[in-house]
Amino acid sequence: TARRGAERYVLAIDQGTTSTRCILFDRRATVVAVARAEHPQSYPRPGWVEHDAARIWRDTRKLIRRALQSAGIGDDQVAAIGIANQRETAVVWDRATGVPVAPAIVWQDTRTSAQVADLDATLFRDRTGLPPATYFSALKVKWLLDDVPGLRARAERGEVLFGTMDSWLIWNLTGGKEHLTDVTNASRTMLMDLATLRWDAELLEVCTIPPAMLPAIRSSSEVFGTAVEVLPGVPIAAAIGDQQAALFGQTCFAPGDAKCTYGTGGFLLMNTGSTPVRSAHGLLTTVGYRIGAEPVAYALEGSIAIAGSLVQWVRDGLGLIGTASEIETLAATVTDNGGCYIVPAFSGLFAPHWRSEARGVIVGLTSYITKGHLARAVLEATAWQTREVVDAMNADSGLALTGLDVDGGMTADNLLMQIVADVLEVPVVRPMVAETVSLGAAYAAGLAVGYWSDQQDLRNNRHRAGRWLPGADAARRAAEYRKWQRAVDCAVLFSS
Ligand code: G3P
Repeated sequence: TARRGAERYVLAIDQGTTSTRCILFDRRATVVAVARAEHPQSYPRPGWVEHDAARIWRDTRKLIRRALQSAGIGDDQVAAIGIANQRETAVVWDRATGVPVAPAIVWQDTRTSAQVADLDATLFRDRTGLPPATYFSALKVKWLLDDVPGLRARAERGEVLFGTMDSWLIWNLTGGKEHLTDVTNASRTMLMDLATLRWDAELLEVCTIPPAMLPAIRSSSEVFGTAVEVLPGVPIAAAIGDQQAALFGQTCFAPGDAKCTYGTGGFLLMNTGSTPVRSAHGLLTTVGYRIGAEPVAYALEGSIAIAGSLVQWVRDGLGLIGTASEIETLAATVTDNGGCYIVPAFSGLFAPHWRSEARGVIVGLTSYITKGHLARAVLEATAWQTREVVDAMNADSGLALTGLDVDGGMTADNLLMQIVADVLEVPVVRPMVAETVSLGAAYAAGLAVGYWSDQQDLRNNRHRAGRWLPGADAARRAAEYRKWQRAVDCAVLFSS
């Protein structure tokens, strides 16, 4: 490909649960090149989910090169690298060799569910904004320290390091020089004090995690170091949890601004400004983002563990469809769910229930049910779970959401977007750039190096691409919501 002019670009790395993406953006936030690779999901036992962190780093290396190649640009045309990542997933590696000591334990993994009840829920909620759950990193790290012989002693001596995927990539990109994380990722470990933005000594002691293995906490948008590998000399200027990156990419800069990203899971985040808002309805209090030395923007989050990964399971686990997009075609063969509901509690139930022990159920089966009804129930599961977190958000904020800004891979499914609008009874709006996670990482990196000047500069890039309005028939929806809630009760009853 011909080399583009002298223009410069920002490279975003979106290290997600199912895939890694490298995207180049120009100043107008146009996608100039995309390189993407899926990595294997390993399910060695029921409830366990693992990733090969070394493979993810190898993929990232290749994808960075591929993105530059397909844009036809040189290394010197990359102004900065921004990293967004699947959050909570825990990697522990050897400081000397850079080799992970065990497979990474993914955020969806429930192997620690028996230990959740041992934790003081009030202490963790007050200090970290999170209810104790298998979801967050702390118990995963503890599990590794308990399970791998000699690991705790090595961690105490600082010979092994812990990090979420942002830390792992920064450490590798800088050739093992920088062991850092950002405040959004740190806020998902269940080990950071939400008020001081520091690791909390008491919580570390409760979880028996040696402080020597932890990365230093930085803001989301600042220079973390200079790449030594792959793109030597290019500053790594942002690291931010993927869901927070989407909040930033959707330019939700004002308190009350909210977005919902549909990827592997579904995540609704609302910016609540510079003071953390405690949830009384099962939402998480978390860090939204921090730009350099500016005050932190906090957020309320409704996390849905399983959204797109339910479609993936229908494809890979059941073989009912050949590609993910076929779920829409299959669901469109029927006009309703035929009375069937699927509660995908594969990783327990997240917001607003927080029941790590719940397991998935399919209810309402009769001989009438076809695979079309099942496909419809799959899409509806995402919509009903969104309704639950929106209800919680409305109750916590005392305001009723008047519309929902959405993004992520699943928003390409028009039928799903219509069902979400119907179920929420508010308009659903999708922006032009659906890769909002990458865009948010690019924005955070670009701001840190002066590629973009300020938030207004970013707002000007926002363009609406799709809009779905709710249909009528509120009475039918209310009846269906009650059925959904009964199905959720079944998932809780049917715990492991
Ligand atoms: O908290 C988990 C979340 O960060 C994963 O996001 O997009 O990889 O499903 P995604």
